[in-house]
Amino acid sequence: MDGLETPRLDAEDRAREYRHALGRFPTGVAFVTARTPEGDAAGLLINSFTSVSLTPPMVLWCLGLSARSRSVFAVAPTFAVSILSEEQRPLITALCRPLEQRFQGVPVRDGLGGAPVLEDAAAVFECSVVTVTRAGDHEVYLGQVEHFERREDSPLAYLAGQYGRVQVAA
Ligand SMILES: Cc1cc2nc3c(=O)[nH]c(=O)nc-3n(C[C@H](O)[C@H](O)[C@H](O)COP(=O)(O)O)c2cc1C
Repeated sequence: MDGLETPRLDAEDRAREYRHALGRFPTGVAFVTARTPEGDAAGLLINSFTSVSLTPPMVLWCLGLSARSRSVFAVAPTFAVSILSEEQRPLITALCRPLEQRFQGVPVRDGLGGAPVLEDAAAVFECSVVTVTRAGDHEVYLGQVEHFERREDSPLAYLAGQYGRVQVAA
């Protein structure tokens, strides 16, 4: 038995260590949303958002292949990325609820293509989809930013599985 179990534990340890190593990279958190031409909306909390190009302005984020929201993003021509502010920390619980209840009590307005945009977000990027590329167990969504806005509010920070405050070094 030992001989069979040890390699599996090694693989689990490696996977955990890999996640911990990735956790050393601080990010923000964003709520990315889309709406189908039929009007169905979906959204999920992400931290895989990044800027790709300044001219033209392009951004990307990654969607897990097992995400239930995938059927909506697959057919939506646009998506919206709302960067959470520090004050929006209490919304996290709602944004992680099962898909059917995720928008309940969450203040949103319709953005480009009807993609829901979080009210009072630290920044918003409304995008048209440029490409969707399969990459391992995720899809990479590349979008062209058609409209953006920002507020002075501090963004919510995410590091090693915890949410926190950005403290600028002296
Ligand atoms: C802080 C944080 C960051 C996340 N980042 C991503 C991400 O970049 N991509 C992703 O597909 N899921 C990410 N998730 C998981 C999704 O929010 C979501 O729970 C999962 O994809 C299930 O989506 P579904 O309801 O569409 O099935 C993250 C979750 C948390 C709490």
